[in-house]
Amino acid sequence: MKTLLALCSVLLLTGRCSAQTPQKCQTPRLLSGSMSLSTQDGQVWAVAKYIYDALGQRIRLWETGHVQNKSLYVDLLFLFKKGVVYTIDDRNQTCQKNPLSDQFHPFHIPHNASLQSQVILGGSSSRKEGLLVNTWKGDVPEIGGKYLATVTEFGCFPVSMLYYSARTGWIATTYFNAVKGIGDPEQLNPPPFCPAAETEDQKLDFFSAFF
Ligand SMILES: *[C@@H]1O[C@H](CO)[C@@H](O)[C@H](O)[C@H]1NC(C)=O
Ligand SMILES: *[C@@H]1O[C@H](CO)[C@@H](O)[C@H](O)[C@H]1NC(C)=O
Ligand SMILES: *[C@@H]1O[C@H](CO)[C@@H](O)[C@H](O)[C@H]1NC(C)=O
Repeated sequence: MKTLLALCSVLLLTGRCSAQTPQKCQTPRLLSGSMSLSTQDGQVWAVAKYIYDALGQRIRLWETGHVQNKSLYVDLLFLFKKGVVYTIDDRNQTCQKNPLSDQFHPFHIPHNASLQSQVILGGSSSRKEGLLVNTWKGDVPEIGGKYLATVTEFGCFPVSMLYYSARTGWIATTYFNAVKGIGDPEQLNPPPFCPAAETEDQKLDFFSAFF
């Protein structure tokens, strides 16, 4: 057993010790962390903290960044089941409410994705230097879209996502400092001053709200 483990860790370092081929995995259903996001045209560069609830289909984002040379800070709450997104201004206790035009896309690897590669990010000469990840790719013909999604082999945490659609061009997202669970579930409910806000006409989707 010991020899097997030793052999396995040697092979692990070279990226070849998966007991079985990588599985299309399910990311933790409750997740908190940070992400950075940039677009192909260089117009958007942003870092956001997020909390993510796949069961309730809710995402909260606190985003700082640059859009078309202007710096911005936005606080967004997406409630996909209700089809609304709130843009929250805590200081002024005001809220903008927009209809959401898209559906919830969970982080998990789609059933029709295909495995691109399993590699070690970073170094592979000692165990602490690297991170074993699986990259999956797929197409979304309805919107002329494609994606490359990378998740950790252990735990299925999101690592990066490259997404293309004709409308958005390439969008690159990397994820870091994720932990399972949500510290304060209350943050996934709209603050008291929000539900009363009148709904704006403009429909937003996840990316247009983000930008
Ligand atoms: C962005 O800001 C830089 C520096 O302030 C300026 O040189 C550049 O022209 C600006 N670009 C746009 C697209 O406004
Ligand atoms: C918040 O209030 C301040 C001061 O009244 C105002 O200048 C600012 O534009 C408000 N922000 C928003 C997002 O409405
Ligand atoms: C993969 O599945 C998704 C969601 O079920 C679907 O939208 C997409 O068109 C599928 N892709 C292909 C290549 O069939």
